[in-house]
Amino acid sequence: MKIGITGTPGTGKSSVCKILKKYYPVIELEQLIKEKKLYTRKDRQRDTFVADIDALVSYVSHYVTHPTAILGGHLAHYLPLDLVIVLRASPSELRRRLSKEGFDEAKIKENVEAEALDVILVEALERNDNVHEIDTSERDIAEVANCIMEIINGSDEYKPGSIDWSEEVFR
Ligand SMILES: Nc1ncnc2c1ncn2[C@@H]1O[C@H](COP(=O)(O)OP(=O)(O)OP(=O)(O)O)[C@@H](O)[C@H]1O
Ligand SMILES: [Mg+2]
Repeated sequence: MKIGITGTPGTGKSSVCKILKKYYPVIELEQLIKEKKLYTRKDRQRDTFVADIDALVSYVSHYVTHPTAILGGHLAHYLPLDLVIVLRASPSELRRRLSKEGFDEAKIKENVEAEALDVILVEALERNDNVHEIDTSERDIAEVANCIMEIINGSDEYKPGSIDWSEEVFR
């Protein structure tokens, strides 16, 4: 079973993957893309690599063969997965986390807006029938890891639809 953990930057994918590593094989996609050179070019302005999605899909399809594997990163929902988990955070909490991480204002605004508009959730729902979402705003990282394990074990408690940031955005 391939499980993807995706979400807007700052929603806690890397933090939660660190915990899940104790229990499952975890592949962090950003690292894999760099290590295996699964990119088309380097975006100097953003200081990131532009992933080659086709190459990434092909790599994961051929080489990730564990019975259960977790794939973490904001591109995870582009992969062929059995289960997609979208981490969410309220715009104000996301702003707080990204400021703490030292993101500049333009980058913070871009990500907060994407989160407010459910961009990754919508992209995931377009590609996969088995999507779940977890509100991490008031859960610590260990609690989020527990929610993920509940989903892996069959819980339907985190089906999309209950998270709505519009009240905060339009206040
Ligand atoms: N559930 C949480 N509660 C409070 N703070 C959190 C939580 N999850 C993550 N954080 C904090 O938010 C920041 C971003 O977390 P993290 O790097 O795990 O996010 P990410 O989703 O991997 O982001 P990116 O896409 O940029 O890699 C870190 O400072 C982390 O400690
Ligand atoms: Mg990360």
